[in-house]
Amino acid sequence: MSQKVAVLGTGKIGEALLSGMIRAGWAPADLLVTARRPERAEELRARYGVTPVGNTEAAKTADTLILTVKPQDMGTLLDELAPHVPADRLVISGAAGIPTAFFEERLAKGTPVVRVMTNTPALVDEAMSVISAGTHATPDHLATAEDIFGAVGKTLRVPESQQDACTALSGSGPAYFFYLVEAMTDAGILLGLPRDKAHDLIVQSAIGAAVMLRDSGEHPVKLRENVTSPAGTTINAIRELENHGVRAALIAALEAARDRSRELASGKKD
Ligand SMILES: NC(=O)c1ccc[n+]([C@@H]2O[C@H](COP(=O)([O-])OP(=O)(O)OC[C@H]3O[C@@H](n4cnc5c(N)ncnc54)[C@H](OP(=O)(O)O)[C@@H]3O)[C@@H](O)[C@H]2O)c1
Repeated sequence: MSQKVAVLGTGKIGEALLSGMIRAGWAPADLLVTARRPERAEELRARYGVTPVGNTEAAKTADTLILTVKPQDMGTLLDELAPHVPADRLVISGAAGIPTAFFEERLAKGTPVVRVMTNTPALVDEAMSVISAGTHATPDHLATAEDIFGAVGKTLRVPESQQDACTALSGSGPAYFFYLVEAMTDAGILLGLPRDKAHDLIVQSAIGAAVMLRDSGEHPVKLRENVTSPAGTTINAIRELENHGVRAALIAALEAARDRSRELASGKKD
């Protein structure tokens, strides 16, 4: 018998998942979606051939529920769902920073919960999704979450205690690279290049470096050494990066992101 999967709160991340799952072979007939606005539900039906339903119906019907509302909307959604979710259904949360205990406290005793922190490259099938089991989730439940999020990129299992660190590295990670590209584009302008040309040079260099990091099997230090010739241009740039404490700044920045993730997970909002 086919397994029904429902995406509840199908916004940007929910839609990225839905389209990835369909491309990976899920039958649209087995996919249910919920949305707050009827026109959004109709848009999803027209675009993907999936079935829009209400949250309560999704809770009663689907074998796996994927919750992709914003963190601040999760409490309201759970209040609506809780009376209707049988305790043998898998609940996967895609919301940043909300611990599995938050769901377990509100759902029927024994409900398996899996927490997933993905990132925006899910929109282009290059996500890094970090997956953790709640108290009642089994390896089979984790495998189901991996199947689903594997449709939009890579997945990695970690203990939930490491989720805040992963949020700092991969959840916020794309933003650091965007920031770096922005700063390097400014440098290109200082060196006399037009903005669009500087942008193209840097973006292609970033893609080339990323593919080498992923595919060469070499350590990043070795890859950097390969382009750092004696008395050459690169070592002059590296000296300035070290003089300006860029390595130390990155370590401090990621520590600050990890600390903020911890605060948000414990309910501190400002
Ligand atoms: N975007 C990211 O970079 C990113 C990265 C990693 C993780 N996440 C996580 O992914 C989740 C979704 O983020 P997103 O960027 O996709 O947000 P989004 O585009 O705002 O999607 C959330 C959707 O949920 C709908 N919704 C809210 N309450 C609902 C309810 N009670 N019933 C049905 N639908 C409801 C919203 O409807 P309306 O359109 O009417 O508001 C919206 O369409 C968040 O929890 C976030 O932490 C996001």
